[in-house]
Amino acid sequence: MIILGLETSCDETAAAVVEETDDQGRPWRLRSSVVASQMALHREWGGIVPELSARQHIRDICGVVSRAQAEAGVEAVDAIAVTQGPGLVGSLLVGLSFAKSLAWARNVPLVPVHHLAGHIESLVLENGEMPLPAVVLVVSGGHTSLYRVATPGHYELLGRTRDDAAGEAYDKVAKLLGLGYPGGPVIDRRAARGDDHAVPFPRTRITHADRNAPDLPGTRDFSFSGLKTSVLRHVTQRRTTLRIGDNEPLPDPEIDDICASFQRVVVETLLDRLFDAARGYGAMSVGIAGGVSANSRLRADSRARGEKRGIPVFIPGIELSTDNAAMIAAAGLRNYRAGVTAGWDLSADASLTLA
Ligand code: KG4
Ligand code: ZN
Repeated sequence: MIILGLETSCDETAAAVVEETDDQGRPWRLRSSVVASQMALHREWGGIVPELSARQHIRDICGVVSRAQAEAGVEAVDAIAVTQGPGLVGSLLVGLSFAKSLAWARNVPLVPVHHLAGHIESLVLENGEMPLPAVVLVVSGGHTSLYRVATPGHYELLGRTRDDAAGEAYDKVAKLLGLGYPGGPVIDRRAARGDDHAVPFPRTRITHADRNAPDLPGTRDFSFSGLKTSVLRHVTQRRTTLRIGDNEPLPDPEIDDICASFQRVVVETLLDRLFDAARGYGAMSVGIAGGVSANSRLRADSRARGEKRGIPVFIPGIELSTDNAAMIAAAGLRNYRAGVTAGWDLSADASLTLA
């Protein structure tokens, strides 16, 4: 069985070919993965412009799919998996319409995939099945969510951010420090040179349930907007003290210290919640997926904590951590095997939930 995956939920146009194997431990083999990033297009605007994103997906999708098939050396596929949501609706619709047309023309089944299920399955694609039950943190520019996986392909939401996603906080802090877009990689680099205790930024601990999500305990939720505001307050105060104008950067060593201190709080907050949940649910493994899992401190600290607690930690390689279609194809194979396919009336859902 060979499946083509398509991903266009945000600012990456991606296609990948994944093959099912009969190896129980490693159910899927990656044949090709092509990603056309729109980063340069959006950098000019300091963030993602949805309409530009959708238009760029239209320009790129044919070439990206042809290349993924050529690199995989396959002409025909047995099914087509596509991200149905969540994401930018205009962008999602490009991938969805393309996938439908291709599936119809080739007379193969269309398989809908939830973007976050894709991120979770990137762990399995790369490492084989995780020891279950597992607790997985999906942490990206749009999401910060904690899931329990007790059986393969079933994801139970334990907590999520009440406001900004962790990656969004990185992007906003980078913007206010004048470091450009996207913020994650540059803050990660600058943090390595700074003192992570230089600025005492606060940590938010949520202790009550969210009125909008009464089914969740709330105590496993995240919040990053207060941290972002205190970075802003600190920067404004330092500008006043040093008599620096609004459009001028702070001295480089100060920026390094702010990046290091901010990053420490983000990473510790994420890992405290993740490992608390792992203990609470008797997890046999933990996973971290999504764009922020590329963060060097998050990778190093999570491995160290895992070793200390004797629990295996799964993180995708850098290529599979940011948005890609290999993870969509992998999650698609999982869905297909469970009998999940879609009709031609399938529609994009910008705020699709993961059951
Ligand atoms: O998963 P992804 O590619 O797209 C979304 O679904 O959002 O994640 C992108 C996010 C951005 O916010 C970016 O700043 C963040 O991942 N990111 C990082 C790093 N590399 C990317 N955050 C922290 N450290 C990094 N090294
Ligand atoms: Zn993503």
